[in-house]
Amino acid sequence: MTDDRHRRPEDVRAFYDAHRTVRQYETHEDGTPLPMPSEHLDVILHAAQRAPTDATAQLYSLIRLTRPELRARVADLTTNAHIATASEAFVVCADVRRVQRVLEVAGQQGGTWPAIAVHFGIGDAVMAGTNLLTAAEMLGYQGCWIGGVLNGLEGIIDELKLPQGVLPFAALTIGRPAEHAPYRPRVPRPLVIHTDTYHDGTDEEIRHATEVMNPIAARGGQPGDWARLLTMYFGQGGGMEKREPGLVAALKRQGLWAGGE
Ligand SMILES: Cc1cc2nc3c(=O)[nH]c(=O)nc-3n(C[C@H](O)[C@H](O)[C@H](O)COP(=O)(O)O)c2cc1C
Repeated sequence: MTDDRHRRPEDVRAFYDAHRTVRQYETHEDGTPLPMPSEHLDVILHAAQRAPTDATAQLYSLIRLTRPELRARVADLTTNAHIATASEAFVVCADVRRVQRVLEVAGQQGGTWPAIAVHFGIGDAVMAGTNLLTAAEMLGYQGCWIGGVLNGLEGIIDELKLPQGVLPFAALTIGRPAEHAPYRPRVPRPLVIHTDTYHDGTDEEIRHATEVMNPIAARGGQPGDWARLLTMYFGQGGGMEKREPGLVAALKRQGLWAGGE
């Protein structure tokens, strides 16, 4: 069956190859955000809500950041300045509060499933955010996911008045690119796409993958060292260990902690 909406494989590849994480956006001369035309905003929000969703539940919410002071505050809390300058900025949240409200209004008792909440809530949030970003890229925008929300979870929960059951996953900025971001590599396919059973990479394959990935860690003309970058994030005493207590505290505060005391 042919359909005008079908694309050729090479066009699909070219579309995904055009993806860049971009952190500098076109702005007004004074650095304030260029508004996105309403029909563009409308269709990227539509795309977000067309994401598939487990159990029909749509366990996510997007908080659209509009007030300049709030943008500045969240930029600060996440240590990602472009939240203040992007045409659009969102905090993408797992949200099991709304489904609990549906049950409540229907006169039903909600169950206890905090681990399921995190599993489905993050999954739904990512799918909606990915749809939004992809739709924006189709319109010629680029964006940036911001896991930096984990640097200031408590403050973000306060600022956005997030009730129990709602947990920020990441922020997402969208705008017209004002920088030429490089094409960033990915781990070679055989280490990521497994056939039938899991393939644990050999040391040689892992070394090769590290070499392929090194350019992603290049900064200011210096050659990149991906293993070093990953050590800074995931190694002992690295960034992720520092973030861990804040995330555990937020999970507890939002009623999503499944780990007991
Ligand atoms: C969940 C998630 C969180 C991210 N957090 C940040 C962030 O806090 N700050 C930032 O500048 N980039 C962030 N990024 C962007 C990544 O650095 C970027 O996607 C990666 O380097 C690959 O580059 P590419 O998207 O241009 O191919 C994040 C990406 C994802 C998917």
